[in-house]
Formats: sequence, structure tokens, C-alpha cells
Amino acid sequence: MLISPSLLSADFGRLNDEVEMLNRSNADMIHLDVMDGVFVPNISFGFPVIEAVAKIASKPLDVHLMIVNPQNYISQVRDTGAAIMNVHQEACVHLDRTIQAIKSAGMKAAVTLNPSTPVMMLEDVIADLDMVLLMSVNPGFGGQKFIANSIKKAQQLRELIRKSGSKAMIEVDGGVNEETGHRLAEAGADILVAGSYIFKSNNPSHTIDLLKSL
Ligand code: DX5
Ligand code: ZN
Repeated sequence: MLISPSLLSADFGRLNDEVEMLNRSNADMIHLDVMDGVFVPNISFGFPVIEAVAKIASKPLDVHLMIVNPQNYISQVRDTGAAIMNVHQEACVHLDRTIQAIKSAGMKAAVTLNPSTPVMMLEDVIADLDMVLLMSVNPGFGGQKFIANSIKKAQQLRELIRKSGSKAMIEVDGGVNEETGHRLAEAGADILVAGSYIFKSNNPSHTIDLLKSL
């Protein structure tokens, strides 16, 4: 299992220390949650913070844009050095065009689905995707309860990927802990995002190892 700790639950007053802790840990990437107060009912951080993290991070950056019109920010995300750009299916009228533009910019293209969006919405683009991010909470806040239906969606997505011959990886985000992570591993998830479970634990590095072993 690959682990992408979400910095949203980190202590922003000690951001350097938190990123250095992740550098030393067995985390596989670093998940950055950008919120605009329009697509989701909350505002988090934007490019200056991503750039500051990119300067010290030794792991690939997994940028999750919870914003409207994400296609307008592709070159700005690329310029931070991000490896993966996640856009919400619900935020993209021309999803295919946006996926191609992300890939042309040299990043891995990932599409995110809200809990209410069916997996089949990706049927016609799945072959082009590097990753699908399934939201297992309604996006906007850390520390929410895992939505159980996400297990079924991970299984459906695994089947869609198999049928289509896509190489897309399955990432799941929201309410991930040892118990839900274990169920997601069984359902076919490749990457787990976890915020509060990692950063609010006594030993974040050890918690990353625990999730990795699922
Ligand atoms: C929620 C974000 C998540 C969030 C997860 O909108 O996309 O990445 O940080 O937080 P936890 O793991 O606490 O549910
Ligand atoms: Zn996220």
C-alpha cells in the first residue's frame, strides 16, 4: 500500500518540521488539499504554501484541487513541481480536454469523484488516467467519518480498470484509519490519503508504517 499523508491536518506553524518528518518517514508522497470556498465550503491554502512545501519536500507532491475551473491553473500547478494533479470530475465541463492538458504539462493526471458521483462517470476517460481519487467523505474538511459506500465504489473502480486495461491507480481520501484502510486494501485501493489519523497520532511516522502494512 502507498501512503499520501494530507498536510491539511499538519501544524502549519511548524510546516517545515512536519514536511521534514514526512521526508524521513516511509510516506510515498505528500497530499496537498487546495480549497476555494466555492467548490467546497471551506478555504485552505494556495500556491505560495505549495511552493514552500515543494522547496523542502523530498517526496512527490500529490495536489488535490477542490476548486472550480481547475483547468485555469494547470501551468501554475506544474510550476510548483507537483507530480500529480487531481481535478474533480464535478468541476470540469470538458474533462477530457483537462486530462490531456495536465498530461501535456508533464504531470500525472488524476480525476477525483465526490461520494455522490458514480464510478461509471469515468468510463470514457479511464484509459487515459494515471490515477482516480475516490472521496470517502464529502470534501472540505479533515477529520470526518468514513462513508461506507466507498468500499463498493473502490471495488467497482477496480473492475472498470481491469475491463478497460487502464493503468490508473486507485487512491482513496477521507476518514482513513487502520480499520477503514484495511477494508479499502481488500477492495483494491493502491494509495491511501490520511490526514488526522497520521498527524493527530502520537507517532506520525509509525502510523504511516502501520497504514503501509495494510
Ligand atoms: C478533505 C481532504 C482530505 C483530508 C482528509 O476534503 O480532501 O485530504 O485532509 O482528512 P482525514 O484523513 O482527516 O479525513
Ligand atoms: Zn484530499
